[in-house]
Amino acid sequence: MSDHVIPSLPYDPKTLPRETVRHYIPASEEDIRLMCAAIGVSELHELFQHIPAQVRMDGPLALPEELAYGDLYHHMVEQSRKNHLPDVSFLGDALPHYQLHDLVPFVAGLRELLTAYTPYQPERSQGTLMTHWLYQSCLAALTGFEAINVSQYDRATALVEALHTAARISRHTRTHFLLAGSLFPQDVEVVHTLIAGTALTVDLVPIDPEHGTVALETVRAHATAAAAPLAGIVFPQVNSLGGLEDVDRLTDLAHEVGAQAIVVVDPMLLATGGLKPPAAFGSDDRGADLLVGEGQPLAIPPHFGGPGLGIFGVRLNAVHKQDIRNAPGRFVGAGYDEAGREAKLLVLSTREQHIRRQKATSNICTNQGFVTTLAAAGILGRGEQGMQASCAQARTAAQAAARGLVCFPGVELAFPDTAFWNAFTLALPRSSAEMIEAARQRGVHLGVDVSSRIPGSSGNHLLLSFSDLHAQTHVDALIACLTDVLGTPSKPEADFLPAVPETYRRRDAAQLPNWDEAELRDFFTALSAQNISPDLTCYPLGSCTMKYNPYLNEVVAGLPDFAELHPEAPLQDAQGTLEVLYHIQEYFKAITGLAAVTTQPVAGAQGELVGLKLFQAYHRSRGETQRDMVLIPHSAHGTNPATATMAGFETVQRSGEIISGVVEIDAAPSGQMNLEHVRQVLARYPGRIAGMMITNPNTSGVFELQFQDVAELIHADGGLVYMDGANMNAIAGWVDLGALGVDAVHNNLHKTWSIPHGGGGPGDAIVAVSERLRPFLPGVQVVQTAAGFAVQRPPQSIGSVHRHFGNVAHKIRAYTYLRALGREGVRRMSAVAVLTARYLHQRLKPYFPTLPEEHDDSPRMHEFIITLPAETFARLESEGISRTKAVGLFGKFFLDFGFHAPTVSFPEAEGLMIEPTESYTKAELDRFADAVILMLRLVNEQPSLLTTVPHFTPVDKIDDVSANKQVRLSERLTDLPAVLPNRVAPEQLAQMSLEAIADAIRKASAVKLGSVVSG
Ligand SMILES: Cc1ncc(COP(=O)(O)O)c(C=O)c1O
Repeated sequence: MSDHVIPSLPYDPKTLPRETVRHYIPASEEDIRLMCAAIGVSELHELFQHIPAQVRMDGPLALPEELAYGDLYHHMVEQSRKNHLPDVSFLGDALPHYQLHDLVPFVAGLRELLTAYTPYQPERSQGTLMTHWLYQSCLAALTGFEAINVSQYDRATALVEALHTAARISRHTRTHFLLAGSLFPQDVEVVHTLIAGTALTVDLVPIDPEHGTVALETVRAHATAAAAPLAGIVFPQVNSLGGLEDVDRLTDLAHEVGAQAIVVVDPMLLATGGLKPPAAFGSDDRGADLLVGEGQPLAIPPHFGGPGLGIFGVRLNAVHKQDIRNAPGRFVGAGYDEAGREAKLLVLSTREQHIRRQKATSNICTNQGFVTTLAAAGILGRGEQGMQASCAQARTAAQAAARGLVCFPGVELAFPDTAFWNAFTLALPRSSAEMIEAARQRGVHLGVDVSSRIPGSSGNHLLLSFSDLHAQTHVDALIACLTDVLGTPSKPEADFLPAVPETYRRRDAAQLPNWDEAELRDFFTALSAQNISPDLTCYPLGSCTMKYNPYLNEVVAGLPDFAELHPEAPLQDAQGTLEVLYHIQEYFKAITGLAAVTTQPVAGAQGELVGLKLFQAYHRSRGETQRDMVLIPHSAHGTNPATATMAGFETVQRSGEIISGVVEIDAAPSGQMNLEHVRQVLARYPGRIAGMMITNPNTSGVFELQFQDVAELIHADGGLVYMDGANMNAIAGWVDLGALGVDAVHNNLHKTWSIPHGGGGPGDAIVAVSERLRPFLPGVQVVQTAAGFAVQRPPQSIGSVHRHFGNVAHKIRAYTYLRALGREGVRRMSAVAVLTARYLHQRLKPYFPTLPEEHDDSPRMHEFIITLPAETFARLESEGISRTKAVGLFGKFFLDFGFHAPTVSFPEAEGLMIEPTESYTKAELDRFADAVILMLRLVNEQPSLLTTVPHFTPVDKIDDVSANKQVRLSERLTDLPAVLPNRVAPEQLAQMSLEAIADAIRKASAVKLGSVVSG
């Protein structure tokens, strides 16, 4: 350890009950012994005894020894210091870097916002929903678009989603696109990767080397020459050389040829006084049709590239009434609760994968939720004036720098006639690479070498980007650096720079509010109290693994040397982060038993997509392009079939028979895959199966005992096997996925590997693959060389699936967690997770039937599904409450007891899926079990209680039917919205006896029913 000062932690870990316990498992050894005894096992390893021995892992994993809390923090600080931040940086390019308002770190520390799940239970999620609403409203103000979703992974993947959306809007009559060659090449690469094997095609219109923009006539010529009608023309407002494109004429041209105008914007530059909002593009002010952008700079530092924030907008007005039905992702709408209070909720969900499966508009599930929350804080913290000032400062700094830089001999603006805002390209007297290195040695990250973007460049083009981080002193430092490298400037200062045409500028004010910072802090704090966090109590959402999210991970990810590192920094300065990524690759090889790992995918669903893209590339490499089918068990999560569609396995049926695409595999009565059905399908479609996607343990919480047999059948037919690893918390360290026959698996970091859910994201995924898929991996691999850590592109890489390295900050969180678990902790973590689930199941079984119904004796792993007893359903039906409704309402009953609801009606329509995780003590689990049993008793005694649930949340049950009929997705922000308090806060409920809660429920229900019983 060096003797550098280690910054003190911003909290006292000893005051946080789950923070310093070994492996973040608060159950004592006695708790574990008692729970084992209750379920009839004496040692934890017996929990895995039913899994075939040949696929079980024995003994500790090849991970380093665990680190104690203080040592771990120390270690991570030292690790971060292996990165080198420059004194001043002009990197920006595909990821601009702006100042963050002080409100942002404050909001980032609000645990109920940070750690909550996706707001599927709106009554207990008004905090998250309101922050997302604010984000939508702020972005609507900046862009003029009526509908902004929350959200996509990053700009590049949002762009892919925009292409799919445009094709759908044309009902797939148009699937060909023109892409401006001036888009960020990082985004274009992701487009190429993700549309390979689909019906979408693109043509890249080359950049005009004289002006550094796309020439309208060239675009027109490509449009005219296109072999098929165009679905869309995609262009940036600020391009990858810093130039401003003629967005009005490009929009007009798109409309002239019947295509969607799809624009890439930088939200920071749309502030008042900045650039024209995309809703006003075009000579008739009709505006662009779809927009994408990168929102990360609004919310968080660069973090070596991620988590990003993909901004996606679609029109919703008299001309575009239905486009939104084709859009991906989540939208938050405004509605009312039963008592007429205004409330927020998720709307338009019938487009999404959890409902529409392979017919969904996208496979996205976990999105970038918390980044949107922080983006809202970032924008509102700055307010109208602050946003305007940042946008203006970026321009002022860029202009000052441009004027000064062109005085150096041999330095010129590469495109002197092209207007720019806050970034420009220089032509240098030496190679860009040489200049970048010379500046690096002087503590300056000079810019990005963009020579490869300019036809005919001799390697001397450099893009410099400016933001509100740059004052005149930074410009002076830049000039001083170049003076040192190139000698004293000798040319006169440029007396004119290309002007920004009036038509490129914003005419009106964005009309963001200017709210007081102190009031905003109170406001966000009050919002957070409307949510619930797994910090407080068991958060039993099955399939979601709502475990404790260590505070330490947040502090480590926020260490400036990690957080402020730009993804385009020279790799010599990024050694600390690269080393973490390298170890992550190694650890996950050990954890999965597979040959190689990619850290680029950013969510489970994207991991699935990467898996299927790898399958396609593998089959293509063998000339087996006829493999156009994917097998997926019926009980799979909606992302699996939706992913298959996005990858290009579109389901086509003729006369009721599947011709291509997704074939669903039935479940046997045990809830496991029906092996016989797999055999039949393989016999029916020999050589056609690209692969099978299998969730294991499956969504009923049961280990697929025939996994290996199924994998052998699939492999024998030439297909490959994807394992949906959402449920790795049950088996990590116990099952060798290589031995199981897995070719690719994703590990959701926001489930098993402890990163917070953020009210819907950002999640993350690490994909491990078998040897045969290694050559095709996306992005780059981090390798260890004698000179340090470097990156290498796999020989037959499918290309990148993220504009940079993925959600790197989450890798740092997961790495920190893994160093806390060490060799023994991973196995202990999953064993205790299985133990707590079996124990809870044991406690609830006498009262609730288990699903799948016919076979309740398959050992459950980390989760289980219960339903209401037949007599309870019957009682409720006699009160007019249908069976499916009853299950949903019973889920809301959990909110009354201070818990989040379990997962309702998935994968069993009448099921409540409970996953306790390893994060709670036996006493906490017992209280939870007692509460659930009491809920049943209360409902049996008084079924009408379910008609008034929930009783203590800030709002009553919300009317989603009307909110979906009259969709409202944003508002002009004037006064700070009112925040309704909890009627009884979850913390208060946690202190009350269960009987006292029951009394309070009875009373609250009676009041709601309008029949208060006196006394
Ligand atoms: C079984 C299963 N598969 C896939 C996913 C999708 O993962 P993500 O939400 O990270 O995209 C989930 C998410 O809840 C899941 O539970």
